[in-house]
Amino acid sequence: MKLEPQGRFGRPFRFVARCESTQDLLGLDDPEGAVVVTDEQTAGRGRQGRQWLAPPGTAILSSILLRPPEGRRQPELSLVAGVAVADAVEEALGLSAQIKWPNDVLVNRKKVSGILAEARGDTVVLGIGVNVNQTRDELPPDATTPAASLFTTDGIERDREPILARILARLEHQYDLWREGGLDAIYVDLGSRDFLRGRRVAVDGVSGIAVMIDRQGRLEIEVDGEHRTIESGEVTYER
Ligand code: BTN
Repeated sequence: MKLEPQGRFGRPFRFVARCESTQDLLGLDDPEGAVVVTDEQTAGRGRQGRQWLAPPGTAILSSILLRPPEGRRQPELSLVAGVAVADAVEEALGLSAQIKWPNDVLVNRKKVSGILAEARGDTVVLGIGVNVNQTRDELPPDATTPAASLFTTDGIERDREPILARILARLEHQYDLWREGGLDAIYVDLGSRDFLRGRRVAVDGVSGIAVMIDRQGRLEIEVDGEHRTIESGEVTYER
C-alpha cells in the first residue's frame, strides 16, 4: 500500500506486508504523525484483551503515533479518532456513521471500525482497524456488537488507500482542534453521532439509560433517576 499524505499525519509512512501487530511497530523515537500500515496481522489486538482478525488485504490496519500535550486527557483520543473515522466512512459510503462509546464506529448498528489507544510514556499509539472489503463470512460471528464491512453494507469493493488518506487528514484536523480546545472543540461532530444516547445500557454490572458522552469523554448514564459518569468499560446495550 502506498500513500501520499496531505499533511503531517502519515509522515513517515511505513507499509509492511505482514506483522504481529502494527501497534508494536512505532516507538518513542518516531515523530508525531508517523504511521504504520499492514496487509496482515498475525496477532492483531482489540480492546479488553480481544483479538482483531481480518483476512490479508481486506481491511485498513494502521497505527499512528501521537504526542498529546500535557493537560489533555489521553482516553479522549479514541473519541477524537472516532470522529475522524466516522467522517471518512460516511464519505466512502454516503451513509451516516455513529460512534459507540468509547471506541467503535457503527453503520446501520453494526461495527465497521474499532480504535485502540495505547499509552506509552508521553506518547499514544492509536490503532485504527476498518473493515473494508471483508465478506460476511470473513467477519467475526460472535462479536458483542455485530460486525459489518463497507462491502457487506453496500456490496461495493473499494481501494483502501483513499479511505486511509481521508482518515489521516480528518484525524489531523480533529486532533489539532482537540489539542487547542479539548473535546468541547469537536463536540458538534461527536455528540451528534453518539449511538448510545437514550438506549438502555449495562456497563460493568451497572444498568441504566445512556444520557450522553460528556465533554470529558465519559459516558453519563441515568440509574434510578441519578446521573453517574463512567470513565471506562465495555458497554452492552439493549437491541
Ligand atoms: C477494538 O475494537 O477492540 C479495537 C480494534 C483495534 C484494531 C487495530 S488494527 C490496527 C491496530 N493494530 C492492532 O493490533 N490493533 C489495532
